[in-house]
Amino acid sequence: MTAEIPFYSLAYQNEQIRKEVHEALNNVFDSDWYVLGEKVERFEQEYANYLGVKHCIGVGNGLDALKISLHALGIGPGDEVIVPANTYVATVLAVTAVGALPVLVEPDVLTCNIDPKRIEEKITSKTKAIIPVHLYGLPCEMDAIVAIAAKHKLFIVEDNAQASGGEYKGKKTGSIGHLNAHSFYPTKNLGALGDGGAVTTNDDELARQARLLRNYGSSVKYHNEIIGYNSRLDEIQAAVLSIKLRFLDRWIE
Ligand SMILES: Cc1ncc(COP(=O)(O)O)c(C=O)c1O
Repeated sequence: MTAEIPFYSLAYQNEQIRKEVHEALNNVFDSDWYVLGEKVERFEQEYANYLGVKHCIGVGNGLDALKISLHALGIGPGDEVIVPANTYVATVLAVTAVGALPVLVEPDVLTCNIDPKRIEEKITSKTKAIIPVHLYGLPCEMDAIVAIAAKHKLFIVEDNAQASGGEYKGKKTGSIGHLNAHSFYPTKNLGALGDGGAVTTNDDELARQARLLRNYGSSVKYHNEIIGYNSRLDEIQAAVLSIKLRFLDRWIE
């Protein structure tokens, strides 16, 4: 007799939160307000508190979180961005999407994460940022990467898509870079019921830019200050993420 073991299953998690999630879904359904509302604001605050950062900006997905981060930093055509050669395609696509050139750095053979010892040889006068990716929840060697970035005056954008809840020397991953990108795709550690993402930062002005960029460059309806995107977190995803966030540490264990 053979037993079939599913490659992926959310059943264990879903059973623990089924009632609460259904109530939350009903609540959103009856609220007449579905995109960027009080549930998004509440989740943004909760996730910022969880990570120990000042700002969290809910966006449409992890790729957009990376694009918006690079755009907010003013990175574009003519610029180079250091990315790991070993990552999901989204990390590289975000760099090309803003018109910059991705410069690949090989991984450390033991961790499979970007090898800090190989970063400096790829830095040129055009380099503007480094995107460390914490693959499979394993943090990159952030002390070494932060030191290289400081020495060469580069920005750090952590790609924390695979590492919600991860920690590096007492700090949460996704709280260390100038701007950081998070994905809430359903298979991620903190997964929504569809697409979702966030940008986090401690910088007030970068946070303001990211907020404008996610919503058509606008903070006041029909006043469009800059050229932006439509990349907004919706109320259903935020309501579910607030519930799941309370279980995240336990589920990771
Ligand atoms: C390392 C990495 N970066 C970025 C992304 C993009 O996230 P999303 O699928 O939410 O756009 C993913 C996951 O899909 C990822 O694994």
